[in-house]
Amino acid sequence: ERLPALLRAMPKAELHIHIEGSLEPEMIFALAQRNGVSLPYADVQALRSAYAFTDLQSFLDIYYAGASVLLHEQDFYDMARAYLARAAMDNVVRAEIFFDPQTHTARGVSMAAVVNGLHRACEDARAEWGISAALILCFLRHLSEEDAFATLEQALPLQDKFIGVGLDSSEVGHPPEKFARVFARCRQLGLHTVAHAGEEGPPAYIWSALDVLKVERIDHGVQALRDPVLVQRLAQGGVPLTVCPLSNQKLRVFPDLPAHNLPQLLEAGLCATVNSDDPAYFGGYINDNFTQLFAATGMTARHAYQLASNSLQASFAPEADKRAWA
Ligand code: HPA
Ligand code: ZN
Repeated sequence: ERLPALLRAMPKAELHIHIEGSLEPEMIFALAQRNGVSLPYADVQALRSAYAFTDLQSFLDIYYAGASVLLHEQDFYDMARAYLARAAMDNVVRAEIFFDPQTHTARGVSMAAVVNGLHRACEDARAEWGISAALILCFLRHLSEEDAFATLEQALPLQDKFIGVGLDSSEVGHPPEKFARVFARCRQLGLHTVAHAGEEGPPAYIWSALDVLKVERIDHGVQALRDPVLVQRLAQGGVPLTVCPLSNQKLRVFPDLPAHNLPQLLEAGLCATVNSDDPAYFGGYINDNFTQLFAATGMTARHAYQLASNSLQASFAPEADKRAWA
C-alpha cells in the first residue's frame, strides 16, 4: 500500500501531545516500583483494561492517576525521551510538547524537576536523532486563575526552557475567559499562546480563545463546524487547529472514525493538522492517527501533503527550520 507508506514517511510536526499522555502502562509500573508509589491496579493488564473512556472527564481521572508515579527529574527525562524516540521513528521532525506542571507541583514535585527533566530530554533528542523539540506549559482550567498565576511565577525562572503556554483539562464549565489575565501576562512575556477549545465545548469557547486569550492556535477545535461565521474567521485568520482523531474517537467526540470531520475542516479551507494527544491512552502515536484516519475516511495523498505542510507551517519553529523541512 502506497498511501500508508507515504503517511509514515512524510516529515511532519506534532503540535498536540501531552507528555503525561505518552506514559505507557509498562513505564507507569516501572516508575511506581522505582519510586515506591502504590497504584490501585494489580498489574499492567489491569491498568490497561481500565482504559475504557466515555468522555473527556473519564479519561482525565485515570490520566492524572497515572501521572502520580512521576517524582524526580529523571522520571520526567525518561518519559520524554521515550516519546521523542517514538516520534523520531514516525518521521516527526518537530514536536511541541505540552506538560501539566500543576499535576506535579500539587504533589510536592518542584517546578525545576519537571521542566529541567523534560528540557534535557528535548536537547538530547536533537543531538541524537536530529528531532527539534520544544515545551509548552499548560494551565489546568479546572483550577483557579490564582493557581495559574502562581504556577506561572514558579516557572518564570525557567522561561528559557519553554516556548509558550496552553490551556487544558476539563473544558465544559471552564471557558477561556477565566484565564484572560494570565494569558495577557504570558503574551507580555513573549510566550506563544494556544488553548484547547471546541473539543467537547461549544464554538463560543473557540471565539473567546481567539478574541479574549488571543491564542495563535486552537487545540482540537472540531466543534467549529457548528458555526459558519467562526469557520470563516478561522479560515481568513489562518488559525491552525491541532486535531486528534484517535482521541476524538476514544472520548466519543465522534461516534467513530469514519464520522470524523477532518475532511470537512480541510474542505472549508482551515489549517487542520493531525496529532496524537495522549498516545499511550488512545491507542496510537501520530502515524497511527494518520493511517487509521485515512483508512476510515478515504482521504488521499493530496490531503496527506496538505496536512504535513500545515503542521510544519503551524509550528513555532524558527522560519529557517520550516523552510528546510518544507
Ligand atoms: N483535552 C483536555 N485536556 C487534556 C487532554 C485533552 O484532550 N489530554 C490531556 N489533557
Ligand atoms: Zn489535548
